[in-house]
Amino acid sequence: MVTTTQQKMVTGKINGQDVTVPAGTQILEAARLAGIEIPNLCFQPLLRPWGSCRICTVEILGRRGGLIESCATPLGDGMEVLTHSPDALQARLYILQMYLIDHALDCPTCDKSGECYLQDNTYLHNINANPYRRPKFSQPYEHFSATIDYKWDRCIMCNRCTRVCDEVIGVTAIETANRGLEATISTAFGIDLSETSCTNCGMCIAVCPVGAFTDRHFGHHPWELDATETICGFCDNGCTINVESNKGIVRRVSHLWERGVNHGYTCEKGKWGHEIIQSPDRIFYPRLREQDGRVYETGWDEIVAHVADRFGHYQGSKFAALASGENTNEEAFALQQFSRAVMQSNTVNRLLSPAQMAVERTTRQAFGLDVASTNNLQELFSAAKNILVVGPSIFEHAPIVSYWINHARLYREARIVVISTEHYLLCDRAVMWLKPNPGTTDLLIDGIAAEIVNSGLLSGEADQVAGASDYAAYVAEVDVAAIAEKTGISVQQIHEAAMVFLAGEMDFVGPRPEGGFKPSSVFSTIAHGDEDGKMAEYGDPARITAALTNLSALTGNLGIAGGGVASMRGPANYQGTTDMGMVPDFLPGGIDIADDTARGRFERAWSSRWIGQAITSNGFAQVRSLPTTPGLELDELADAIDSGVVKAAWVEGGFATRHEVLNTRLYEALKKLEFLVVVDAYDSPLTEIADVVLPLALNLEKDGTFTSYDRTVQRVRAAVPAMGEARSELQILSAVAGRLGYDLTYGHPAQAMVEIAQLVPDYAGVSYARLERGGIVTPVAAFGDEGATILGGDRLHTQYITPAS
Ligand code: SF4
Ligand code: SF4
Ligand code: SF4
Ligand code: FES
Repeated sequence: MVTTTQQKMVTGKINGQDVTVPAGTQILEAARLAGIEIPNLCFQPLLRPWGSCRICTVEILGRRGGLIESCATPLGDGMEVLTHSPDALQARLYILQMYLIDHALDCPTCDKSGECYLQDNTYLHNINANPYRRPKFSQPYEHFSATIDYKWDRCIMCNRCTRVCDEVIGVTAIETANRGLEATISTAFGIDLSETSCTNCGMCIAVCPVGAFTDRHFGHHPWELDATETICGFCDNGCTINVESNKGIVRRVSHLWERGVNHGYTCEKGKWGHEIIQSPDRIFYPRLREQDGRVYETGWDEIVAHVADRFGHYQGSKFAALASGENTNEEAFALQQFSRAVMQSNTVNRLLSPAQMAVERTTRQAFGLDVASTNNLQELFSAAKNILVVGPSIFEHAPIVSYWINHARLYREARIVVISTEHYLLCDRAVMWLKPNPGTTDLLIDGIAAEIVNSGLLSGEADQVAGASDYAAYVAEVDVAAIAEKTGISVQQIHEAAMVFLAGEMDFVGPRPEGGFKPSSVFSTIAHGDEDGKMAEYGDPARITAALTNLSALTGNLGIAGGGVASMRGPANYQGTTDMGMVPDFLPGGIDIADDTARGRFERAWSSRWIGQAITSNGFAQVRSLPTTPGLELDELADAIDSGVVKAAWVEGGFATRHEVLNTRLYEALKKLEFLVVVDAYDSPLTEIADVVLPLALNLEKDGTFTSYDRTVQRVRAAVPAMGEARSELQILSAVAGRLGYDLTYGHPAQAMVEIAQLVPDYAGVSYARLERGGIVTPVAAFGDEGATILGGDRLHTQYITPAS
């Protein structure tokens, strides 16, 4: 976790051991840091101390009535704590016996059996008889929704479920109803959760320490499951998930608390999205389209020979390769290598929507490189203070970011301004929600920048950024009253939003605090604007992105903890596939294709991979140098296909392309190719137009790494075998390249990462061995380095962007 402020430390004794922790750390957590476990039920990491179950009772020596709940009592300087004194144990035993009076104790039929905290604690405290008893109260299951059941007589009223729903998810779809023995957890008015604000994230099930909340899709004993820790493949937050399988079938995703960027929490897609792995519309076998249009399934040998033979005709500028943002780093590295070294084409890219293209291009222009985030997600727990959220619902598109923004609001009093044309729950929890008229989001941000400049509260340090004078002239021309007219947001509101972003207070009038303002960060989901055709509502994504990077630079928020600009892009490995060189003018690591020295390093590494004659019949040439002219940008590619310059392509599909066409202009062009290979896991609009369809293994079926939007490289692990004949991209490319005489075989993706670390300076410190201990933030220059969580200063070539620049 990124910490930035000096904290007061305290030292106490726990079981005779000196423990030093930041002041305010609860005894239970201090003990855990020292490797001492204290039993608990209502404690849940990242939630407020609740102190209701009292199972965590410990004894504080020298204090009257020394028994106290350790989860809600901070360790004091000089405090002496015994976690297992006879009195503490006796108290816990008594409390447990009280719970067991009314608890259902239907363990043989309870889903939670084997991982129930009450069961564990009963065993731990050796309770084999209970002197307290009365007839049990019992109630049937309540179906809260299609995925969630509640069983009252197992509920211990610890309120973990209601607290997680409110404090993390930011929803409050469930609440406590009634009192005393009749207390229960209830949905609003007892209606189905699907009719409430519930997001179906399943976190109420995940945190329930007993079997009161259960997963209606799950029907197994936990001890029959094999667990694999891996990374969710549904968005670029990069959440760590625990995939549990049995007989090669994924049965559920469970939660590794305090692991990963998500600390164990997930959204609905992370929780239940695994079910699509077993979807009947998976592609199981390679497919070939005959000249008469008929499609038949075939084996890998035949299809690989066919693909290699056809590609042999299209070496050079006739060839293009598009990765999916869901390819692993190793797959993307291999695909760009195949395109450059084997096919002699720099026309490589990701299959991007127009909004993604615009955000990427503008970010590259503003910072000199494309990074989805200049800062680290974990700063929301330590440094972020004033937060501007812009674009389509962050709640929907980057749920974990939304959780941690809500958490920062609740626990660190972060002040939030949301600019969005749609209403979602964070809008209600923000200090301000601004809903500009369609197409005017960029104007509103410019208005906020102008109000900040006009307030006279800036100290001028951001005047050093390139393009400062042009930007100053541009802002000077901004007419806030006219913006108010166009956006429908009053001048007063624009001013208040400016003050919240700069100073954390709507009515701030100065003076500028000594030492400057607290940090302000920007979170943008504008790259998601094409989904559901929302772009018209927001306006030009390039202009919005420019206005946001300008605002951050103007207020001196680049290069500081809690500041910066994040623009989540969508696909799980968007950042990684960019880093791996799936970009027409940059080699892996953002190295300019025209840089002879750097390109020479790649040529030397790859030229030895030519192993023999190509097994083709078409005069395909083995070239031992890399092409030097930049490839075509995505919008140029469509024109080049139309005009017959590009004739063949290798295109990877992904989750976002499953049902919709991401880029209509390009899609129409792809139909005109002489030869189109689509590699995908599902039938999609892309597979409909392909000459060859190759079945791709999903992230839960292969090894590799993803790089999350905040530049954290994390290990993707195969949890189950690939369905049917599906293969990873590395396996597929290795077979096709082999037919062309090029050895693109990596025994394991770890070997590809060894090569990446050697060739890509920003990944030089990444290795699979190191990844076993957790994610590694890039750029990371060496194995011993921590990685640069915050980019700014010399690491970015920041410039202001005005419409004229
Ligand atoms: S599924 Fe999520 S949003 Fe719905 S009630 Fe449970 S915790 Fe709340
Ligand atoms: S349902 Fe589970 S998490 Fe919620 S109060 Fe009951 S025992 Fe606690
Ligand atoms: S936030 Fe993204 S990465 Fe995390 S669980 Fe949800 S879909 Fe998966
Ligand atoms: S865990 Fe401390 S009171 Fe429940």
